[in-house]
Amino acid sequence: MKIETVGVIGAGTMGNGIAQVFAAAGFPVVMQDLSQEALDRARATMQGSLARQVKKGVLTEAEADSALARITQATTLDPMADCDLVVEAIVERLEVKTGVIGQLDAICRKDTVLASNTSSISLTQLAAASTHPGRVIGMHFFNPVPVMQLVEIIRALQTTDEVAAAVTEATLAIGKTPRVSKDSYGFIVNRLLAPLINEAINCVYEGLATPEDIDSMMKLGANHPMGPLALGDLIGLDVVLNIMETLYSGFDDPKYRPSPLLKQMVHAGYLGRKSGRGFAHYA
Ligand code: CAA
Ligand code: NAD
Repeated sequence: MKIETVGVIGAGTMGNGIAQVFAAAGFPVVMQDLSQEALDRARATMQGSLARQVKKGVLTEAEADSALARITQATTLDPMADCDLVVEAIVERLEVKTGVIGQLDAICRKDTVLASNTSSISLTQLAAASTHPGRVIGMHFFNPVPVMQLVEIIRALQTTDEVAAAVTEATLAIGKTPRVSKDSYGFIVNRLLAPLINEAINCVYEGLATPEDIDSMMKLGANHPMGPLALGDLIGLDVVLNIMETLYSGFDDPKYRPSPLLKQMVHAGYLGRKSGRGFAHYA
């Protein structure tokens, strides 16, 4: 099983980064989203990110141009028929993800690997939605994708050894570091990180300190590269809420209860960077 062509579904915060890193490593990539507008926004983001890497000397201008040229775009899933690996990076909701897996079953070859970039949802439940559950696996990238080293690889109960080996090899081929985890809600990183962000939001809710001071305390006192509220804004507060809801219902444990303020921020549309406002304002 060799991965040579890649499909990315969802051109949001994560999808554009995932498409970019595969393309920069030489893989032809087809990127799909529901609207051309979302695809246009993703292309502009990738252009900006590649330009940053050229400025830093990570890529030459010619390498950045050819990376972008390797990415084709589509608003239907049909081109996924030609892919060896499809990475899904759409909204963090079980029923939407299983719907897409069902569509991919009808379009893709039966040996195409179906990877999910889910932050917290059970891979075993996602695999159960496929007619070929052994090919489903978690390939969890971190934001911002071009910068973060880790890819958390999550094996569903049904995932075959061959699929896990192929995804590990593809992770190494794009210059990232794979680490394997068993399937459990939130896996490892988000089981630790999402409650930290949620608790920082509770500190704001309780009026203990300003968001700026909470963030600077964690930067100055715990050496975090950015504070938990700025990190929530970077991830997207809707995504953080979806993760907390999965942990809360999955483990059936009150310690994962989403902060009331987190829910209000999402209801107000204050989703963080992607909506222009979260715990901070963004131009
Ligand atoms: N594309 C390309 N390069 C980028 C980039 C992007 N989108 N964003 C930042 N960079 C590069 C910059 O060029 C810069 O490179 P150099 O240091 O080599 O010049 C480097 O990254 C640092 O960027 P900045 O100097 O602009 O900013 P910074 O020093 O404040 O770092 C940061 C930004 C890398 C985001 C850093 O603050 C950080 O690591 N924050 C924590 C991020 C984190 O925890 N991510 C995981 C979130 S959880 C998740 O993703 C999982 C989930 O399921 C929700
Ligand atoms: P996002 O809201 O930025 O983007 C999601 C994109 O998917 C949107 O462009 C939307 O139009 C598209 N989409 C929705 N339904 C679709 C469908 N049926 N078919 C095709 N496209 C569809 O979301 P995001 O932050 O990129 O998160 C995507 C996934 O990655 C989620 O599962 C999330 O939990 C996970 N994740 C997010 C982060 C993060 O920091 N934001 C980090 C790691 C993993």
